Amino acid sequence: MTSAGRIDAKVLVIGTGIAGLTFALRAAEFADVVLVTKKSRVDSNTNYAQGGIAAVLGESDSFADHVADTIRVGAGLCYQQRVAELVANGPGAVTDLIEWGVRFSKSDGRLALGMEGGHSRPRIVHSQDLTGPAIETALLEAVGLHPRIAVYEHHMALSLRVTQTDNGSRCAGVWALDEENGQLLEVRATSTLLATGGAAALFQHTTNPAIATGDGVAMAYQSGAIVANMEFVQFHPTALYPAEERAFLITEALRGEGAVLRNAGGEAFMKRYDPRADLAPRDVVARAIHAELIATGETNAWLDATAISAHRLEETFPTVLGGCGRSGIDPRVELIPVVPAAHYVCGGVWTEIDGRTTLPGLFAAGECACTGVHGANRLASNSLLEAVVFSERAAGRIASDVDESKPDDAHTPAPSDLSGIESEAVEETRAALKRLMWERLGIVRAHSSIAAAASQLAELRKGWAELVSGAAREPDGDPTAWGRAVETSNMLEVAALIVRCALWRRESRGLHFDSEHPHRDNEVFLRDSILSPP
Ligand code: SIN
Repeated sequence: MTSAGRIDAKVLVIGTGIAGLTFALRAAEFADVVLVTKKSRVDSNTNYAQGGIAAVLGESDSFADHVADTIRVGAGLCYQQRVAELVANGPGAVTDLIEWGVRFSKSDGRLALGMEGGHSRPRIVHSQDLTGPAIETALLEAVGLHPRIAVYEHHMALSLRVTQTDNGSRCAGVWALDEENGQLLEVRATSTLLATGGAAALFQHTTNPAIATGDGVAMAYQSGAIVANMEFVQFHPTALYPAEERAFLITEALRGEGAVLRNAGGEAFMKRYDPRADLAPRDVVARAIHAELIATGETNAWLDATAISAHRLEETFPTVLGGCGRSGIDPRVELIPVVPAAHYVCGGVWTEIDGRTTLPGLFAAGECACTGVHGANRLASNSLLEAVVFSERAAGRIASDVDESKPDDAHTPAPSDLSGIESEAVEETRAALKRLMWERLGIVRAHSSIAAAASQLAELRKGWAELVSGAAREPDGDPTAWGRAVETSNMLEVAALIVRCALWRRESRGLHFDSEHPHRDNEVFLRDSILSPP
């Protein structure tokens, strides 16, 4: 199983969501690009995104307003200059996507602009409620046609290659496992971009696909990169109830069109919690639903879209109608049962504005990165924008370095084979972890409960370490079992990072609400939670 292939690459990309694909297209203008992805190329969080991309395109809108909205929602932790960079490049990002073949929805011949929570103006560009798939399809076609981009599907990144130079450690590519034939692939790269997406699949109920296991964050941290702000996990207020392992998302754009949340008594309760009512930022809406469910003992809230015309729902929200229809619900005439579910991790691998991480040779973009634009809470539909804008910055930075450097051919050890771990033990560990994160690191947390989570997690990790040391001696030869075990190791690592950040932040800010420290404490905590590797 461990016979290894080897390729050299100037530029390596790990992940095929919007950040990885737009980066690859830009980097291919000046270098050959190798792109590895753990599943098939269409498996990415982007492909499941119903919501759109925020950009200042309306006549009544301004960059200053979009910046102000982002910073207000970010609860004091956004980096103003980076937010300004993000917003100023919004219209250009939309134009680039159109040039790559993405077709956005129009109204009267112009791009249709929707509203979402926390925005003071309509500025969300959509492709009906299929924006993610529309973007993925167009970008994958462009990547597939590009002669300088080679895509390796079903290649699970196991660990980063780290070499030693006179100036210290450097990322020099990746060790990946071909899950179809069990062969290892060593990619020796001059520059590596992590675009591995998020980690919301660490939680029992999530809107994310099962692949969102935080692999990039875990690998980067283990290789010496700084990680930040992992406590800020966004729970999307409206996932279809009952929430399966991957809950079906009911896009916030529906509330932007006028849908309202109701409790079991039929009351449109959001007005009691925030003057912006159903279009308050996501942290406020998710906590309000949580409070209503505790107060009433109900299992779910209700989203009422019946005031939106049937024609408008059919034209703009075919995915929502289809998903609800599969559960026997017709949003044109019925209320939709909803609950919050884990959706997006604002923290990640710390980057400079040009995508550099603290580990030379390693760049990060998209959800796995912490670029400083989301602060303590991401403004709706700013994430696709962030991916396009900052992956371009990373490509620009690499372009200015690439000619002088060569892939480092130093020997790095191949990762251990974990395929011998019993699949039952792997699944039990994952299930226990997901329950723990949901119960103790959810929408409303308490410091004492997070401390209990830290002890429980330490026990889980101890048990896992014993399984790993046994497995390395007794491989059973199944590459997908090896990949799943590596994912599980990554999930445990990322969970520990979330718990450490959440334990440190003894206040409530943005997405981190600690009922034992319910107020914001700017004296001590007006700063990022920074995790330096051991
Ligand atoms: C949504 O459509 O509600 C999700 C979009 C986002 O997470 O920004």
